[in-house]
Amino acid sequence: MTLILRDKASLRAWRAKLTEGTRLGFVPTMGALHAGHMSLVAQARAAADIVIASIFVNPLQFGPNEDLSRYPRPIEADIEKLEAAGVDALFLPSVEDMYPTGASTMVEETLVSGPLCGAVRPGHFRGVTTVVLKLFNLVQPHVAVFGQKDAQQCAVIERMVRDLDVPVEILRGPIMREADGLALSSRNVYLSVEDRAAAPLLHQSLQTVAAAYEAGERDAEKLAQIGLDVLAQSDRIKVQYWEVRDPESLGGIARVGASGALLAVAAHLGTTRLIDNLLLGGDV
Ligand code: PAF
Repeated sequence: MTLILRDKASLRAWRAKLTEGTRLGFVPTMGALHAGHMSLVAQARAAADIVIASIFVNPLQFGPNEDLSRYPRPIEADIEKLEAAGVDALFLPSVEDMYPTGASTMVEETLVSGPLCGAVRPGHFRGVTTVVLKLFNLVQPHVAVFGQKDAQQCAVIERMVRDLDVPVEILRGPIMREADGLALSSRNVYLSVEDRAAAPLLHQSLQTVAAAYEAGERDAEKLAQIGLDVLAQSDRIKVQYWEVRDPESLGGIARVGASGALLAVAAHLGTTRLIDNLLLGGDV
């Protein structure tokens, strides 16, 4: 039975009762749970004695013209999935409880959050780091699991935890995909039939570039162009970025070298924004 904790006070009371030595795993989410989230839960269960998830659609990380109001909120179905997965507790706070009137402090990572999604979604990562640090302070987990599909979010959170000495271990869960390669995302439900048919091209573009890398291409600009050429097969796909980046700092690189690269793509299909990525191994 998953215990539902609907406010900070009940979460704190629950947390205080956990016995010393119990390893607590945490999976923060915005709900609309799919198999990708459930794989993070499974990873948390394997790494901890007790698992808590959170569902909180965090207004701070949405821009003024983004999808906050229409973000899917199938809360009953989400609770059933967490129950079935044996999650011990669910933190389900309200916006008012998380951000009481007058809250005026934000947490900002200033390097890794700059490019890619940071460049096209100003303030997004500041909203993410602010809520994640609050959640870490409230939940006090030993280990927390985030999906590699948001590779930049993982990198930003890892930096925040390192820079601010937050006592939590961060694990990354692998990207889960549909049979045709489309990365699982809560936003996939927005896609029209036509856009859904075009969406696997994102993953295909990453794979095509990975094949070019395997065949010896190392020039970052040429690799990105190969990815863009694949996406050009569909005029439904409006590319926001297709980039080859240093896998840790996310800084720009001219060539893929010893430390490999993160291939990252973001695109709009209709009004839906999708992201995907792939890590290229480095030369040894
Ligand atoms: O990845 C998400 O779902 C959100 O960005 C997170 C980490 C739960 C913070 O709101």
